[in-house]
Amino acid sequence: MKEYVLITGGTRGIGKAVASCLGEAGYPLALTYASDEENACRTKEELARKYGVDVHVLQADSTDRASIDNIYMYLEKQDIKLGAVVLNAGITCRDSFEEMTLEDWEKVFFANVHFPVFLLQRIVGLIGEGGCVVFTGSLMGIQPHAVSLSYGVTKSAVHSLVRNLMKSFVPYKIRVNGVAPGFVDTEWQRNKPAEIRRNIENKIALGRFCEPEELARVYKMLIENTYLNGEVVVVDGGYSYK
Ligand SMILES: NC(=O)c1ccc[n+]([C@@H]2O[C@H](COP(=O)([O-])OP(=O)(O)OC[C@H]3O[C@@H](n4cnc5c(N)ncnc54)[C@H](OP(=O)(O)O)[C@@H]3O)[C@@H](O)[C@H]2O)c1
Repeated sequence: MKEYVLITGGTRGIGKAVASCLGEAGYPLALTYASDEENACRTKEELARKYGVDVHVLQADSTDRASIDNIYMYLEKQDIKLGAVVLNAGITCRDSFEEMTLEDWEKVFFANVHFPVFLLQRIVGLIGEGGCVVFTGSLMGIQPHAVSLSYGVTKSAVHSLVRNLMKSFVPYKIRVNGVAPGFVDTEWQRNKPAEIRRNIENKIALGRFCEPEELARVYKMLIENTYLNGEVVVVDGGYSYK
């Protein structure tokens, strides 16, 4: 049997699409969610029914340091051994430079950078040799972000983490990679006004948002290709900043 894949923020959006793609390929899953338990249970049931794989869902908020221990204790208790970890959950803060507070700045840093690092430190012993870690970065960690300074800076840090953690993980024989998505048609993007969505589409060579399912296949490739290490794969449909 394949080892489990842990996906943070795995019950909706990109994380759910990755879970679905991996579930279809027979991987058992452990998916975290922040607060929407009803949706998490629906996702668990849907994936287990469709693909016949074991699916666990557990509550873990990346802004809450206690969630690191909670995830570890849950995996330990359930005797879950991991083949891959997808560090996907991320948050943003759209306050302007003038209005942003240190508290919110720290919260975005904690969730997007500190949390995944210290979660990995806690659970690395549960990841088998030959396993891998995949981070969700962002195109906004490469292009300057007009709306959220903390988001752009933390996603740049995530890309840097991929390359630096790769070194730390050599003794464990665990690979570390990342995906930098452009604009993916999840609720996050769907809730934007139509005019803003059109402006975005006009900047993408393919003229459309990325479907979560086509992005998910890149995560699967990173998990399964045993020679990919320290890469951040940009999946942006050919975006140019105008
Ligand atoms: N969508 C895009 O265009 C895009 C582009 C580039 C990068 N990204 C990155 O992709 C990742 C996922 O984005 P998405 O669009 O799929 O977002 P999403 O739809 O908001 O993802 C939702 C998932 O993340 C969980 N989540 C939300 N807040 C959380 C928190 N504070 N702690 C832990 N989990 C939390 C949700 O749980 P609940 O259901 O309980 O809230 C759910 O499982 C993020 O890191 C984002 O920065 C997205």
